[in-house]
Formats: sequence, structure tokens, C-alpha cells
Amino acid sequence: MIRLTIQGIALALLVGLAPVAQALAPGKAPATAAAAKAAKAPDASQKCIDCHAEAEPGDKSAAGKPVKLDPEAHAKTLHGGGNATCIDCHAAEGLRKYPHKEPGAAQCASCHEKAVKEYAETSHGKARAGGNGVAAACGDCHGTHDIKPTSDDASKVSRQNLEATCGACHGSEALVKAGKVPGGNVSAKYHDSIHGKLLHGDTKAKDRVPLCTDCHGTHDMRPKKDPESAVSRANIPETCGTCHGKAKKAWSGGQHGKLRAANVMTAPGCTDCHGTHTIADHNAPKWQVEVIRECGGCHTEYIDTYRDTYHGKVTDLGFARMATCASCHGAHDILPKENPLSMVSEQRILATCQACHPKANANFVKFQPHANKNKKDSGLVLYYTTKFMQVLLAGVFAFFGLHTILWLYRSLAELKARRGRPAPDTEKH
Ligand code: HEC
Ligand code: HEC
Ligand code: HEC
Ligand code: HEC
Ligand code: HEC
Ligand code: HEC
Ligand code: HEC
Ligand code: HEC
Ligand code: HEC
Ligand code: HEC
Ligand code: HEC
Repeated sequence: MIRLTIQGIALALLVGLAPVAQALAPGKAPATAAAAKAAKAPDASQKCIDCHAEAEPGDKSAAGKPVKLDPEAHAKTLHGGGNATCIDCHAAEGLRKYPHKEPGAAQCASCHEKAVKEYAETSHGKARAGGNGVAAACGDCHGTHDIKPTSDDASKVSRQNLEATCGACHGSEALVKAGKVPGGNVSAKYHDSIHGKLLHGDTKAKDRVPLCTDCHGTHDMRPKKDPESAVSRANIPETCGTCHGKAKKAWSGGQHGKLRAANVMTAPGCTDCHGTHTIADHNAPKWQVEVIRECGGCHTEYIDTYRDTYHGKVTDLGFARMATCASCHGAHDILPKENPLSMVSEQRILATCQACHPKANANFVKFQPHANKNKKDSGLVLYYTTKFMQVLLAGVFAFFGLHTILWLYRSLAELKARRGRPAPDTEKH
């Protein structure tokens, strides 16, 4: 470190003097201002390069950052190859002289105004500005001296690498905690979702499944509470719909979608039923059973009555080859029963049951999937049978309860009586 600093100062003096020597040399004076600028620009960087190339590989700055820079390697990078000089990014005045005073962070705004502006107004940028040192800065997603074109497979934001780039923070329990990142270990969930699994599989779908940024945007990433966010409650169907047009259309025509269009935000959008980072294959039995609970979370009365039926009891045990809510109501095209297109309308109910009960007839569909045993309007027979059973059960308990108490009373009395009598055999031993 000391050696480097001494070398550095010597070099700085030398390089610092070079322009003076150049200016004094006859015939070498630049002809125009433009040419002067062109000749000066690479010089400014050359000064930095020369000195930083001299450093030893292990040398660290006061802030603990590596100082060594390989000029040849740097010249091959996207920016080093002519797109930017050292001082374009390292624009702080303090770097122009050595020793450096307050090097400051590198800047990108002079050339990437749009990206910088977008970033500043959204999740990561705001958090950084607010002092959250864990929130992603440009370099965390793009690299620093090794930035590659976004279309390059080796880029940190390429299809191959993006999951790992976001995962460096969103998949690290330690950083999630340190950065107070909402959602916890989102990367692990995404990795195991149908989207994540297909991304790592070898079907054609791997090129079409969404990466983090397909749902969240890139620089315009906003928290879900922000109405402009691609993942705000109102915008989720649109975001999923960019790829799932058919499902989105069916949902829009169903009761839930219609309610949303009328601004009833309690109606479910895609993720209320499917989850977000845990989206599963729709044929997976585990999910099919889970989604019943999602429907039931909003339709509490209907899940209670459903659980009373054979269908509901069996799916509660985890068997999915049974009628779930969606088997009778549909998934996206759910409609009220008055609507003739509803799967439970008078017109269609028979066909709905026949899908699994081929022998079903008009009589069979009189069965009430949501019969409420505690309400008279679900049928007097069921109501009074339930009441009779409840009374019978209460009666049985009352009778046996009383019986047990009387029995206990008698036993105690008998025990007391026995204690009163002398024990016949005890003195013989
Ligand atoms: C005379 C040699 C010398 C010259 C010329 C020089 N540097 Fe440095 N630079 C160093 C040394 C030594 C360090 C590490 C010590 C320190 O922290 O100041 C360093 C550190 C740095 C750092 C890292 C600071 C940090 O955040 O830890 C940056 C960035 C940097 N230099 C950029 C530049 C740029 C840009 C130029 C050209 C305008 C330049 N340097 C010119 C020697 C030099
Ligand atoms: C595209 C912009 C860009 C260019 C061009 C650039 N740098 Fe950097 N440099 C960065 C970023 C970003 C960092 C990370 C630290 C920060 O954000 O300030 C960095 C860090 C450094 C560091 C500290 C080591 C480290 O890895 O953190 C040194 C030393 C450095 N640069 C020197 C140079 C020199 C010398 C040149 C010219 C040959 C140069 N840089 C050109 C963007 C740039
Ligand atoms: C959270 C990660 C992340 C952060 C932070 C980030 N970017 Fe990006 N950036 C991306 C992704 C992903 C893409 C690729 C978008 C695509 O493929 O369409 C991208 C694309 C770009 C592009 C090329 C396309 C365009 O939009 O112009 C530039 C330039 C860029 N970023 C610069 C920056 C700068 C400058 C910053 C800091 C202000 C920054 N990025 C911060 C993830 C990020
Ligand atoms: C002096 C101007 C300048 C500065 C400063 C600069 N860049 Fe660039 N950057 C460019 C140019 C020019 C390109 C090549 C654009 C192209 O090929 O379309 C580029 C390309 C990129 C790309 C690839 C874009 C793509 O479409 O594939 C990214 C990402 C990027 N820069 C990020 C950064 C980051 C991050 C910083 C700050 C640390 C930075 N740049 C600073 C000029 C600059
Ligand atoms: C299929 C679309 C989709 C993909 C892919 C996706 N997300 Fe999300 N993400 C969402 C939605 C929608 C929300 C809003 C959460 C909600 O409504 O429960 C969200 C929320 C978040 C949150 C905030 C969590 C919270 O509870 O507030 C973070 C952080 C996040 N996502 C990061 C990521 C990362 C990192 C990846 C990639 C590994 C990723 N997301 C992939 C759709 C997606
Ligand atoms: C260097 C660490 C880091 C990286 C890399 C990173 N993030 Fe983040 N991210 C954070 C932190 C920290 C927050 C919390 C910001 C805050 O306090 O609101 C955050 C917030 C978010 C949020 C907003 C959550 C909310 O609802 O407030 C989303 C969405 C998100 N990140 C997605 C991504 C995606 C997608 C990528 C990859 C392209 C990515 N992040 C890369 C650290 C990171
Ligand atoms: C009320 C709950 C619910 C809502 C809201 C919902 N889905 Fe579904 N979705 C389901 C169920 C249940 C299935 C399984 C249907 C089956 O097994 O036939 C399904 C199946 C799917 C499938 C696979 C089968 C197919 O139709 O391609 C996709 C893709 C899908 N949904 C996407 C979406 C999208 C996108 C949205 C938002 C526009 C959405 N879902 C809204 C419950 C829902
Ligand atoms: C970038 C495009 C894209 C986005 C955005 C997207 N998906 Fe997907 N999704 C796919 C692809 C591709 C598949 C693989 C199956 C296929 O080919 O349809 C898939 C699979 C699914 C499946 C399983 C389908 C099945 O047959 O079982 C569901 C459910 C699903 N996505 C729901 C969602 C939801 C909900 C969202 C929004 C939060 C969403 N997707 C966002 C592309 C996308
Ligand atoms: C996030 C809450 C939520 C979830 C999840 C949900 N729904 Fe709904 N659903 C509603 C709301 C709100 C209405 C409108 C009810 C009203 O107007 O009384 C509705 C309406 C309906 C209707 C039309 C009946 C009517 O009264 O208009 C049926 C049938 C229905 N949902 C079935 C389902 C099924 C089946 C599922 C699961 C696959 C499901 N719902 C998931 C909230 C939800
Ligand atoms: C075996 C078929 C079947 C199953 C399974 C089923 N339902 Fe129904 N559902 C019906 C029929 C038939 C009706 C109309 C008669 C009635 O209201 O009892 C109905 C009515 C409804 C209604 C009121 C519709 C309206 O227009 O008023 C809602 C809401 C509902 N069910 C939700 C659910 C939910 C949530 C589940 C799962 C927990 C579920 N259903 C399971 C067949 C079924
Ligand atoms: C997704 C398939 C499916 C659908 C749709 C379905 N059921 Fe079932 N249901 C079953 C299965 C499996 C059993 C188990 C007994 C069996 O195999 O018959 C069953 C059992 C029953 C039982 C009790 C056992 C019995 O056979 O007496 C009744 C009653 C019943 N269903 C009525 C209906 C009615 C009414 C409808 C239409 C509103 C309907 N189911 C729709 C799959 C379905």
C-alpha cells in the first residue's frame, strides 16, 4: 500500500507534467478547440489508467475496494471500449487529483438519463435515497466495469442470469433481514413455482415464462401499494393477461371480472386464487384442494355448507378427484345461478353433474350442494332431521351425564361407609 502510494505520487507528477511538455513542444499544438478536446479526453483517462494499472492485484483503497485495473481488459468492456472514459462515470472533482479526496459514487445520469430518472422514482431508488444501503443500485443489477449489453447472454440481466441477480438479495435471508425487504425469500418461492420450474426445464415454455422483471418491470419497479405498480391489486390481471390472454378474457366475462370492472376490489384477481410467487400447475392436486380454501376465505357460508357434503369431506382430506368449487362453478367464467350461462343454472346444472355422475337425472340434481342444515329454506326434511339429531344427541348426553353423576355419588357414599367399618385382616401380619 505504501509502495503503491509512493509510486502513485511519482507517476501523478509525471503525468501531470506531460500536457505542459506537450503544449511546449513545437508543431504539436492542436489546431481547433474540437481537436483539443478530442486530444484531451483520452488523456484524462490515460492518467487514471496508467496509475491504476501499476497497482498490485491485492491493493485496496481506504474504503476496502480493489485499486488494480487491467487496461487491456478494460478496453474490451462495453464502456471502456470507447463509450465512456473513467471520468465520465467517476465524475467527482476529488478524483482529478491524487491523493483522491472523497471519490464519491460513480454516476450514469449524464448518458442514461431515462434509466436514472425511472430508477430514482421507484422502489430501489427511493429506498437507496432514503438510506437503505441494501437496495439495488445500478451496479448491483448491471455490474460496474464488466457491464454487458442487455442482449448479451453473459449480462447480469440476461434471461439466464436475472434470477440469480435479483436472488443475490431477494434470495438471501441475511440481506432480506438487513434490508427490511418485504415478502421474505421470494426467490426460493419463485424457483419452485410453475413459472420457475419451467424456466429451468427443457420444454419450449422456458423461453416464455415470466422472469421477475416481466411482472415487476425493470427500472419502473414499484411497491404493490403504488397504484401505478404493475403488481398493484388493480393492475395484476392486466400484467398476467399479457401472456394469459385467454384466461384473462374468460375471467373478465365472469362475475368476479365484471365486479372488478365495476370497481368492486374485494372480487378476486388472478393472484387471490393462484398465489403470486407460488403459482402451481392447475392440475396439481395439492393446489386444487388449496384453492377451495381461497374461495372459502371469501365465501365463508358456502364453504361451511360444502364441507357438510360428501364432496367437501373428501376434498378436506386432500383428495382432489372430487367435485371442488371450480368443478361445479367453473374457474374464470363463474356466474350467478340466475344467469343461463352459469354452470349451476337450471339449464346447465344437469350437464355439470353428469361430467362426473354420468347417470345423473333431473331427480339427482335436486341434491343441494349447499344445503344449510340450520336453515329452514334449505328444505324442511333436512332442517327437522338436523334438529331431531341435535335434540337426540343432547338428550343422550344429558341422560348419560346424569347417569354418571348419580353413579359417582353412589360410589362415594359406599366408599365412605366402608371406611367407617374396621378392616378385618390388617392386624394378622
Ligand atoms: C497517482 C496515482 C493515481 C492516479 C493518477 C489516479 N488514482 Fe485513483 N486511486 C489511486 C490509489 C493509490 C487509490 C487507493 C487509495 C485511495 O483510497 O485513495 C485510488 C483509488 C481510486 C478509486 C477508489 C476509491 C474508493 O471508492 O475506494 C477510484 C474510483 C479511483 N481511484 C478513480 C480514479 C480516477 C477516475 C482517476 C483519474 C481521473 C484516478 N483514480 C487517478 C491512485 C491513483
Ligand atoms: C461505466 C462507468 C464507469 C467507467 C467508465 C469506469 N468506472 Fe470505475 N467504477 C464504476 C462503478 C459503478 C464502480 C463501483 C463503485 C461506485 O459505484 O462508485 C467503480 C469502481 C471503481 C474502482 C473501485 C474498485 C471497485 O471495484 O469498486 C476503481 C479503482 C475504479 N472504478 C477505477 C476506474 C478507472 C481507472 C476507470 C477508467 C479506466 C474507470 N473506473 C472507469 C463505474 C465506472
Ligand atoms: C433491480 C435491477 C436493476 C437496477 C437497480 C437497474 N437496472 Fe438497468 N436494467 C435492468 C434490467 C433487468 C434491464 C433489461 C431490460 C430489458 O431487457 O428490457 C435493464 C436495462 C438497462 C439499460 C438498457 C435499456 C434501457 O432501459 O435503456 C440501461 C442503459 C440501464 N439498464 C441502465 C441502468 C442504470 C443507469 C441504472 C441505475 C440508475 C440501472 N440501470 C439500474 C435492471 C436494473
Ligand atoms: C459517457 C456516457 C456513459 C456513461 C457515463 C455511462 N454509460 Fe452506459 N452506455 C453508454 C453507451 C454509449 C452505451 C452503448 C449503448 C448502446 O450500445 O446502445 C452504454 C451501454 C450501457 C448498458 C447496456 C445497454 C443495452 O442496451 O444493452 C448498460 C446496462 C449501461 N450502459 C449501464 C451504465 C451504468 C450502470 C452506468 C453508470 C455506472 C453507465 N452505463 C454510465 C454510455 C455511458
Ligand atoms: C408472475 C408474476 C411475478 C413474478 C414472475 C415475480 N413476481 Fe414478485 N410479485 C408479483 C405480484 C403480483 C406481487 C404483489 C404481491 C401480492 O399481491 O401479494 C409481487 C410482490 C413482490 C415483492 C413484494 C412482496 C410483498 O409482500 O410486498 C417482492 C420483493 C417481489 N415481488 C420480488 C420478486 C422477485 C425478486 C422475483 C423473481 C425471483 C419476482 N418477484 C417474480 C408478481 C410476480
Ligand atoms: C442489492 C440488493 C437487491 C437486488 C440485487 C435487488 N433488490 Fe429488490 N429490493 C431490495 C431491497 C433492500 C428492497 C426494499 C426496498 C424498500 O425498503 O422499500 C427491494 C425492493 C424490491 C421490490 C419492492 C417491494 C415492495 O413492495 O416494496 C421489488 C418488486 C423488488 N425489490 C424486485 C427486485 C427484482 C425483480 C430484482 C432483480 C431485477 C431486484 N429486486 C434486485 C434489494 C435488492
Ligand atoms: C376465483 C379463482 C380464480 C381466479 C380469480 C383466477 N383463476 Fe385461473 N384458475 C382457477 C382455477 C380453479 C383453475 C383450474 C381450472 C381447472 O382445473 O379446470 C385455473 C386455471 C388457470 C390456468 C390454467 C388453465 C387455463 O385455463 O389455461 C391459467 C393459465 C390461469 N388460471 C390463469 C389465470 C389468470 C391470468 C387469472 C387472472 C386474469 C386467473 N387465472 C384468475 C382459479 C382462478
Ligand atoms: C411473460 C409471460 C407470463 C406472465 C407475465 C405470466 N405467465 Fe403464467 N405462465 C406463462 C407460461 C409460458 C406458462 C407455461 C404454461 C403455458 O405454456 O401456458 C405459464 C404458466 C402458468 C400457470 C400454470 C398453467 C397450467 O397449465 O397449469 C398459471 C396458473 C399461471 N401461469 C398463472 C399466472 C399468473 C396468475 C400470472 C400473473 C401474476 C402469470 N401467470 C404471469 C407465462 C406467463
Ligand atoms: C377475494 C375474495 C373472493 C374469492 C377468492 C372468490 N370469490 Fe367469488 N365472489 C367474491 C365477491 C365479492 C362476489 C360478489 C358477491 C356478491 O355480490 O355478493 C363473488 C361472487 C361469486 C359468485 C356469484 C354469486 C353471486 O352472489 O353473485 C360465485 C358463484 C362465486 N363468487 C364463486 C367463487 C368460487 C367458486 C371461487 C373459487 C374458485 C371464488 N368465488 C373465489 C369474492 C371472492
Ligand atoms: C357439487 C357442485 C357444487 C360444489 C362442489 C360447490 N357448489 Fe356452489 N353452488 C352449487 C349449486 C348447484 C348452487 C346453486 C344452488 C344453491 O345456491 O344452493 C351453488 C351456489 C353457490 C353460490 C351462490 C350462487 C348464486 O348465484 O347465488 C356461491 C357463492 C357458491 N355456490 C360458492 C361455492 C364455493 C365457494 C364452493 C366451494 C367451497 C362451492 N360453491 C362448491 C353447486 C356447487
Ligand atoms: C368433479 C367430479 C364431480 C362433479 C362435477 C360432481 N360430483 Fe358428486 N361426487 C363425485 C365423486 C367422485 C363422488 C364419490 C361417490 C361416487 O363415486 O359416486 C361424488 C359423490 C356425490 C354424492 C354422494 C354419494 C352418492 O353417490 O350418493 C352426491 C349426492 C353427489 N355427488 C351429487 C352431485 C351433484 C348434485 C352434482 C352436480 C351439482 C355433483 N355431484 C357434481 C364427483 C363429482
